[in-house]
Amino acid sequence: MLLFETPKAWARRVLRPAAPSPLAGRTVLVTGASSGIGEATAVAVAARGATVLLVARRADEPARVRERIEASGGRAAAYVCDLTDVADGGAVDLLVKRVLDEHGAVDYLVNNAGRSIRRSLSLSYDRFHDVERSMAINFLGPVRLTLGLLPSMRERRFGHVVNVVTWGVQMKAPKFTAYIASKTALDVWSRAAGRETYGDNVTFTNVRFALVHTPMSAPTEAYRRLPGRSPEEAAATVVRALEDRPVTVSTLPGRVGEVLNLVAPRLSDAAFHRLDRRMPDSRAAQASARKP
Ligand SMILES: NC(=O)c1ccc[n+]([C@@H]2O[C@H](COP(=O)([O-])OP(=O)(O)OC[C@H]3O[C@@H](n4cnc5c(N)ncnc54)[C@H](OP(=O)(O)O)[C@@H]3O)[C@@H](O)[C@H]2O)c1
Repeated sequence: MLLFETPKAWARRVLRPAAPSPLAGRTVLVTGASSGIGEATAVAVAARGATVLLVARRADEPARVRERIEASGGRAAAYVCDLTDVADGGAVDLLVKRVLDEHGAVDYLVNNAGRSIRRSLSLSYDRFHDVERSMAINFLGPVRLTLGLLPSMRERRFGHVVNVVTWGVQMKAPKFTAYIASKTALDVWSRAAGRETYGDNVTFTNVRFALVHTPMSAPTEAYRRLPGRSPEEAAATVVRALEDRPVTVSTLPGRVGEVLNLVAPRLSDAAFHRLDRRMPDSRAAQASARKP
C-alpha cells in the first residue's frame, strides 16, 4: 500500500483518517468518464462528495455513468464532446462555455480521455494518420480544454489538473511511437505550464500509469497474461493525485527505466530491442494495418 502512496496521502490516512477529502464540495471534470480508468475515477470522486462533470464522446455513455453515480447518492452532470474537435468555436470550446455557464467554475480537471496505439514501425509506414489521431486526442484536445479552463482557475486562485499519461513517457517503449510521443507532449506541456501558474495556486500532476486492465488494453493478447492494475486501483491513484497535488506519480519500474535511459541509453536500446522482439504486434494491429 505504502508503495503507491504519497507522504501526504499516508499522513492523512494514518494521522487524520476522519478528515474530509479536499474534493468534498468541489467541481471535478473528468474526460473519458465513460469507461475504464475515467469511469472508476468519476465514481470515486463523487463518493468523496465532489460534483463530477462527466465528459465522453459516445452519446449515451456519460448519462449512464451519471445515473450510476446518482443512484449511489452522488452528484454528476453529463456532457457529450468529441475532444478532438479543437477548432475555434468547436466542440471543446462549446464544452468549456457550457460547463462554466452551468457550474461557474471547475476546480479540478482530469485529462483522462485518450487512445493508445501499439503498432510496430514496419506496419506504420502508410499510417501517418496514427500520429495525427494520437496527437489529436492525447495532446491537442486536453491542451485546448485546459487552456479553456485555466483563466477562471487562475482568476479564482485555485485549480489542479491531473493528466493520465503513461510510464511509456519514461520507458520509451517500442511499438508505441505515436502514443508515447503524444503523451510526452502533454506531460512536458503541463510541466512547463505549471511553472507559470504556480503563483496562482494552479498546479498539474502527470500520472504515469503502467498496465491497467481496461477496454483499451484488452485487444493486445500479450497484456492479458501480464500483471496490471484494475480500473478501481488506478482510480484510487488519480484521486490521491487530486487530493495531494504531487508533480508526478510514477511506478518504480518507470523510474528505473527513466534513469537507465539517462545513464546508459544504448544499453537501454539493446534491452528494449530484445524485449520487443519477444512481443509481436497484436492480431488487431496486424489486421488494421492491412486496411487503408
Ligand atoms: N489501460 C492502460 O493500460 C493505460 C496505461 C497508461 C495510461 N492509460 C491512459 O489512461 C487513459 C484512460 O484509458 P483507459 O485504459 O481507461 O481506456 P478506455 O476504457 O478505452 O477509456 C478511454 C476513454 O476515452 C474516451 N475518449 C476516447 N476518444 C475520445 C474523444 N475523441 N473525445 C472524448 N472522449 C474520448 C472514451 O470515451 P468514448 O468511448 O465515449 O469515446 C473513454 O471514456 C487514457 O488516456 C490512456 O492512454 C491507460
